[in-house]
Amino acid sequence: MVTSELRLETVDSTMEAAKSLAATQDFLLVTAEEQTLGKGTRGRVWQSLPGNIYMTIGVNRRHLPPARLALLPLEMGLHLWEAAAAAVSPSQRSGLHLKWPNDLLLLGSKAGGILMESHGEFLLVGLGINVAGAPPVGDGGTPSACLAQAGMPVDGKDALVEDIYRRVREAAREADAYDSEAVLLQWQGKVDWQRLHGLRDRAGTPSVLPMSVNKHGHLQVRHADGSREWLVSEYLV
Ligand code: BTN
Repeated sequence: MVTSELRLETVDSTMEAAKSLAATQDFLLVTAEEQTLGKGTRGRVWQSLPGNIYMTIGVNRRHLPPARLALLPLEMGLHLWEAAAAAVSPSQRSGLHLKWPNDLLLLGSKAGGILMESHGEFLLVGLGINVAGAPPVGDGGTPSACLAQAGMPVDGKDALVEDIYRRVREAAREADAYDSEAVLLQWQGKVDWQRLHGLRDRAGTPSVLPMSVNKHGHLQVRHADGSREWLVSEYLV
């Protein structure tokens, strides 16, 4: 397996650095201590507090059979959850959940997010994980948390980065064993199905309760009036 790894002090965005690095490798990893133009989903800014994780993993598409693509956002969320769960105090693990499709929540507040972009032959998976600090959230987004609040040592950043990178590579190598039903089942086990969410980009931020997820990775929610809707691309807060 050919890999390239780049560990930077300061960069605009690890996504952009990964694009510059991408060639014919199997996997890429770019990390930075600080980002000056960190990108969140839907064009939002991802803030750069010191002591948090900013990383992008590149996976060459030859390791991603088409059958795996639909649930890839959920699968990446699972890798994030599993690695974070191993990093926090065992007594705090029950406070970790996934919010569709792949936000990491600690006691309902956001401790990590994933941005996925396509670049040539690569799928780029950018992960921002709050370890030492929880950035203030001022634009109606989900309140934030950091994993240190759940007992993760702040010097455990590198180990967490390596753990996620290893999980992504191992899953790609074991492509023959891929089981979409297992991904769905595991993902469902990480969601807090009792928690109400708001549809952030809709007028009035209507509250919805998550109900189920299908084989395409779409989320079914129930509105306050009892009606149900399948979400394909929405932002839940
Ligand atoms: C989200 O909005 O929830 C996704 C946030 C993704 C942030 C990470 S930090 C590392 C990588 N580089 C970026 O510019 N964004 C992603």
